[in-house]
Amino acid sequence: EDLGVVAVGFSGGQCKPGVDAAPSALIESGLLKQLRDELNYKLHGDETVHAYTDLVPKEDPPFRNMKNPKAVSGVTQRLSEQVYTHAQEGRMVLTLGGDHSIAIGTIAGTAKAVRERLGREMAVIWVDAHADINTPETSDSGNIHGMPVSFLTGLAKEDKSEYFGWLKEDNLINLRKLVYIGLRDVDPGEKKILRDNGIKAFSMFDIDRYVSPIITVIPQSSYPSPVLPYPSPVMSGVDACIPRRHGIGRVVEMALAHIGTDTPIHLSFDVDALDPMWAPSTGTPVRGGLTLREGDYICESVHETGSLVAIDLVEVNPSLAAESDLGAHETVRAGCSHSETPGRKANNDDDPVSNND
Ligand code: ARG
Ligand code: MN
Ligand code: MN
Ligand code: MN
Repeated sequence: EDLGVVAVGFSGGQCKPGVDAAPSALIESGLLKQLRDELNYKLHGDETVHAYTDLVPKEDPPFRNMKNPKAVSGVTQRLSEQVYTHAQEGRMVLTLGGDHSIAIGTIAGTAKAVRERLGREMAVIWVDAHADINTPETSDSGNIHGMPVSFLTGLAKEDKSEYFGWLKEDNLINLRKLVYIGLRDVDPGEKKILRDNGIKAFSMFDIDRYVSPIITVIPQSSYPSPVLPYPSPVMSGVDACIPRRHGIGRVVEMALAHIGTDTPIHLSFDVDALDPMWAPSTGTPVRGGLTLREGDYICESVHETGSLVAIDLVEVNPSLAAESDLGAHETVRAGCSHSETPGRKANNDDDPVSNND
């Protein structure tokens, strides 16, 4: 399969330096090598990391409360053309960020290509601790990485071309084709936007699966341990499996059902959707997130639909949580993560591990 790769070393959508170093860290860790050698993708685009320095102006004062507005607008406009070109060639597109503002460029590019090539409206699955749907006016921080979805859905609009006015109707996505997974830090203004527009969102609350198992010690007389010289604590089957909410399997299933089958999908994955245990090196970490395995599961099952047109991997910041030095390493590793059963397809013979369908 053909894969267009775009490495975006850009951090202007937020204020912490370091996210711009993520693409090289991911590439050095072997992300592209894995895709090429283990997953047999044919890669297009070189491994050079684009910094777009020519598009970052010296003077870039806030506009409508947005920080670095011209830089983010200019970089995402250029990026949208790069992504569009890959998608027009029928390639799946992998973009390595960069902060999440770059999704303005990637999604604008794929949405347009999908309209032209397939005459279809594309869906977006946004995996994130945050909704990133602030308008310039509802945002407290003024950081554009908290606003991409509002520009991409037309909730935020601006005529001036140097401030996202280049976004046209065919770059935008339908609010009904947007689904969130992993939310747990949503600003009050964003909650109102989600509610008022009936946007589909699965928070961590929906992903929760079990109540804490109740450990019941059963008297030795009835259940002697076969191996231990004392009665072993036994989890009663019933107590251990009380479902709380849906679990990741059902959530992904419901997300895909909402989108509808056979709809092209752009997956925008913010690494802070993962719990900081697996991905501490990110600008806005929030506890209580997805396990590494749940993150992989989302990517695998979306890929398995056969409808995936693009993936963004954003907000890896190798210079944060580097106290232990392990933090950055772990986060980059998480970004490279894939299971041993990648993209299981029906009758996939070369899947050595699972053959249950
Ligand atoms: N909601 C906050 C804001 O608007 C945080 C956004 C975090 N976004 C991200 N892509 N990590 O600033
Ligand atoms: Mn986030
Ligand atoms: Mn917050
Ligand atoms: Mn985000």
